[in-house]
Amino acid sequence: MSRIIAIDGPAAAGKGTLAKRLAAHFGLPHLDTGLLYRATGRRLLDEGADPSDPEAASAAARALRPEDLARPDLRVPAADAAAAQVAAIPAVRAALLDFQRDFARAHGAVLDGRDIGTIVFPDADAKLFVTASAEARGERRWRELRARGIAAELADVIALIRTRDAQDAARAAAPLLQAPDALRLDTTDLDADATFARALDLLAGRIGPA
Ligand code: C5P
Repeated sequence: MSRIIAIDGPAAAGKGTLAKRLAAHFGLPHLDTGLLYRATGRRLLDEGADPSDPEAASAAARALRPEDLARPDLRVPAADAAAAQVAAIPAVRAALLDFQRDFARAHGAVLDGRDIGTIVFPDADAKLFVTASAEARGERRWRELRARGIAAELADVIALIRTRDAQDAARAAAPLLQAPDALRLDTTDLDADATFARALDLLAGRIGPA
């Protein structure tokens, strides 16, 4: 039986790092579903199209190819903004649903995103909701930016995180919500190793050994 681990939560909570480590531990493929929305937005920017145009955006989502997810320019501010715009369009989300389900069909998967446990895989074997305070998440994002040589004010980065939270929670299409059966993991005071250890504790008994 293929195993599905769903990891949801707000931006910069540590989902991606945790998902990669859990995937390696359990021998499962990993899909960062945020990349689907980023790559869709990127295609529209390349075409000079408007990322909030439902027709153009859903056509771009349907045209998405696995190689689009490997583009090096998906984690820049223009792609952040375009991803948030396309993610609010129901036809885009519908077009990306099959991609996500097909990815996990053959071998199971660890998927991280915003709606994996609520919409994409409501029957996932295990669901984690990974979160942290906006200050902790803003500081992590700020350190990542600095490490990449991008100068920014910490207060501005925290403010942007709060704006993204509000957008993700308020949108009508698949708002960010903790699934009732998801296990909550607050990483405010945890580093990556402690987060991984805590996740393994939470998953014990729900996911068979690797
Ligand atoms: O996680 P990441 O920051 O890469 O997500 C990029 C954008 O895609 C965000 O605006 C987020 O709300 C959206 N997203 C989504 N559903 C997912 C994953 C990401 O709406 N499953």
